[in-house]
Amino acid sequence: MDRILVEGGRRLEGEVTVSGAKNAALPLLAAGLLPEGPSTFRNVPDLADVSTLLRLLRTMGVDAQRLPGEDRHVVRVHAVNGITAEAPYELVRTMRASVLVLGPLLARYGHARVSLPGGCAIGARPIDQHLKGFAALGAEIQLEEGYVEARATRLRGATVRFDKVTVTGTENVLMAAVLAEGDTVLENAAREPEVEELARVLRAMGAQIEGAGTDTLHIHGVSRLRPVDHAILPDRIEAGTLLVAAAITGGDVHVRGARAEHLDALLSKLREAGCSIASTEAGLRCRGPEVPRPVDIQTNEHPGFPTDMQAQMMAFLSVASGPSVISENIFENRFMHVAELQRMGANIRVEGRTAVVKGVPHLSGAPVMATDLRASASLILAGLRAQGTTELSRVYHLDRGYEKLEAKLSQLGARATRVK
Ligand code: UD1
Repeated sequence: MDRILVEGGRRLEGEVTVSGAKNAALPLLAAGLLPEGPSTFRNVPDLADVSTLLRLLRTMGVDAQRLPGEDRHVVRVHAVNGITAEAPYELVRTMRASVLVLGPLLARYGHARVSLPGGCAIGARPIDQHLKGFAALGAEIQLEEGYVEARATRLRGATVRFDKVTVTGTENVLMAAVLAEGDTVLENAAREPEVEELARVLRAMGAQIEGAGTDTLHIHGVSRLRPVDHAILPDRIEAGTLLVAAAITGGDVHVRGARAEHLDALLSKLREAGCSIASTEAGLRCRGPEVPRPVDIQTNEHPGFPTDMQAQMMAFLSVASGPSVISENIFENRFMHVAELQRMGANIRVEGRTAVVKGVPHLSGAPVMATDLRASASLILAGLRAQGTTELSRVYHLDRGYEKLEAKLSQLGARATRVK
């Protein structure tokens, strides 16, 4: 299994470009099931999670291919009429976002059988809100042998009020509603930029959607959709991770593709901690302080501080000049990186959903283990600041969501190498 070695203590400088957004690519490729012809998606990141979804689509009989060589960031998805609308456990258990095929399958084929994802490292993560939405649109839902079986001859528009703000839940029900008969209103919907991106692409397919980016979506169902050719927006979490890499090393980095309007909450916390951030034509430039000031963080739904940046900020604040309080409000078990950061010398105390991070003057390199995607990024960031060498194992977590992070950091002057 691969490992990543990081030799700490180097200030990062230069320019780096963000890849396409994982959390936009996944719903968009699933949306490729909706139209009758072939759609083309560009700027699709080359990640394990995307490969898993493409494999799932092919298992169902969909023509879903990444183009070869230089064009590997281009993906074609063509769902013909007679596919097997079934997502097996072996694939869904490796990636929860596989449930995103449920909505499109149900809307276009009138039937879907998808394995229940089960728990994951960062909590129970149920899909009850997705199912509640499909049921409101008139689908008959059965749970059997670990699978969700959903059927509807034609979905009917309805008002759905989510009890909880859910990103993939909103996306899944939205993809079902675009082909339903009549009008649907989704209340308490997620406002993440990736939901907005999905709505934009569905509209390009011919869907009628209003309110994207707000908490209420109005959808007027249509009877068919047409294929699209679309380039996926840059990944705001990768952008944020690269900004924190600049910050934690006291460096000066221009992150091309970073968009201030998607990163407000993070940028204001980075500034509070002493970073200087400037918008450029192509992205954002971040200059880090020698020693960060402590800041308190509460994760929340967009436009709040993203839970997907919590672990990386914790690494940064572990070398601050005082104590920071970090509260995790989205997932109940998302502090697994704490024990690993402690092995590097960080002083962090967790009580329930709150972590108190007392800044220390130095971190020291250590062998550490990735426990989930964003935790692995935080350990690499800590390694950049630490004295000595950090060796990260279980790198497959990192590869699920970052395209060659170690190469991008090396390009900025870090010593980060992958060993097979
Ligand atoms: C998405 C992102 C993930 C991010 C998360 C929160 C993708 C592919 N993944 O995950 O990177 O960390 O949003 O921003 O876009 N919940 C329920 N019932 C449901 C659905 C969710 O109780 O039916 C709960 C979850 O357990 C969690 C909270 O709602 O506590 C938010 O989860 P959700 O927004 O659904 O996360 P994902 O869409 O899975």
